Amino acid sequence: MKRAKRFEVLDQRPVNKDGYISEWPEKGFVAMKSPYDPTPSVVVENGRIIELDGKKREDFDFIDQFIADYAIDVDQAEQSMKLSSLEIARRIVDIHVTRKDILKIASGITPAKMTEVLNYLNVVELMMGMQKMRARRVPGNQAHITNLKDDPVQIAADAAEGALRGFAEEETTMGVARYAPLSAMALLIGSQAGRPGVLTQCSAEEATELELGIRGLTTYAETLSVYGTEKVFIDGDDTPYSKAFLNSAYASRGLKVRFTSGSGSEVLMGNSEKKSMLYLECRCLYMTKGAGSQGIQNGSVSCIGVTGAVPAGIREILSENLVAALLGLECASSNDQSFSNSDMRRTARTMLQFLPGTDFIFSGYAAEPNYDNMFAGSNFDAEDFDDYNVLQRDMQVDGGLRPVREEDVIRVRNKAARAVQAVFKYLGLSPVTDEQVELVTYAHGSKDTPGRDVTADLMAAEDVLKRGITGLDVVRALYESGFEDLAESVLNMLKQRVAGDYMQTAAILDRGFHVMSGINTPNDYMGPGTGYRVEGERWEEIKNIPHMIDPRDI
Ligand code: 5AD
Ligand code: CA
Repeated sequence: MKRAKRFEVLDQRPVNKDGYISEWPEKGFVAMKSPYDPTPSVVVENGRIIELDGKKREDFDFIDQFIADYAIDVDQAEQSMKLSSLEIARRIVDIHVTRKDILKIASGITPAKMTEVLNYLNVVELMMGMQKMRARRVPGNQAHITNLKDDPVQIAADAAEGALRGFAEEETTMGVARYAPLSAMALLIGSQAGRPGVLTQCSAEEATELELGIRGLTTYAETLSVYGTEKVFIDGDDTPYSKAFLNSAYASRGLKVRFTSGSGSEVLMGNSEKKSMLYLECRCLYMTKGAGSQGIQNGSVSCIGVTGAVPAGIREILSENLVAALLGLECASSNDQSFSNSDMRRTARTMLQFLPGTDFIFSGYAAEPNYDNMFAGSNFDAEDFDDYNVLQRDMQVDGGLRPVREEDVIRVRNKAARAVQAVFKYLGLSPVTDEQVELVTYAHGSKDTPGRDVTADLMAAEDVLKRGITGLDVVRALYESGFEDLAESVLNMLKQRVAGDYMQTAAILDRGFHVMSGINTPNDYMGPGTGYRVEGERWEEIKNIPHMIDPRDI
């Protein structure tokens, strides 16, 4: 065929380098609604659910049973299920119906009913729902802090910069898993150098991650994964009960925990039981609630390659975020894996959470260049910081970040790097040279740094575990090395573990270590003139981007 030049040009556009696939419900390639999704139903007998979404108790798989026993409010079920799905959908967007009223209704509906409700909402209505249902009054943001070399000095500097830029939570992970103790320690120190009160996490193999948490080298855990079909769970040697148990292990030591789920995982693992992605994700969210977790990281997350490729996939992602909020869970709403070559498409996808605001708009914004992102690349990275700040300013929206001055960034990066150098020296771990501190301070990414003696680092990492080094040892090392303020901040993070207030839904800490959660600062949006508005000091901060001229100077 003779090619039309216009089509040749279009074929070369970034959007056409993305993958798209057609619907195939039998294999689970369907976003919002599958012809095989169950019809909503519930039957309660003697205070127990004996039928759930068309299935009798004797036919329940362990997910059905867990949901029936722990995730649905039996006393509320009959009343909620009597309302039509359309009526519930309308109440979600009705500004005269409070968030509390919606939470009550949602507590008594089944996963199939929830799926039906969400199918009535278009993306603007989903955003209206999220604006009202988000748990915390003020939205937040979370960063990925990683690098290709697993360099703890760079982790500390990037964490400091990220904290200064406004992230309330920072998470790391490693290329080489054995680095974990050093990564966790560097992240803990660096975050506090940027802004006291930032929460940190190290995503690692489950036993290691739990141990780092118990030792006080991390302050929250997030990647407790749940899946929507029994077969996928079993393939991962897990059940909802084992996840609930792990959740309790963290909680017993005063650590904030959220689960992780997201559409597409069951399709990727080949066991979707012909159900829609949204229905399966609803099951995950009900399990999360039933297990007693305060929140979830969801929105397809690492499986967006699948969800993003099917029709209405991006609408489905916001839908699953909203389901989390409807169940009263904190929602860290993904936006954390690269899925598109198109700048337009990746921005549009993020606007669905950015505009209404979620508890964490990104559950992992790459606060380093994407080549250093060890979570396989994020939807936005360090090179997008100014675009993001301008979007906040253009729309007068709080996306959780703020413009910063170059000299301030250099100052906190340097302090974080020096603090890690001092702590490693005090604890007798691997050496950090002055040259490395200098290069990391000014680096964009690991291409600008000298790298590490990996053998020495891994021996030191093992040593941290063997010697039983804890958060308190880090406090002492900081204090004895002249970083009294950082010592105090890390100690304050450890005190949170004893108080436990930051285990409440959607909790973050301000720079004075005060908890802001869905309990003490709940979202009170009820239409125009209510709820959180970007104004006052925060608006001044967002307005003042560095690349701006004063017209009076011309
Ligand atoms: N479902 C469950 N867990 C997920 N993770 C990412 N995406 C999903 C998903 N769709 C978890 C995995 C991964 C970490 C980054 O987050 O545990 O290792
Ligand atoms: Ca995350």
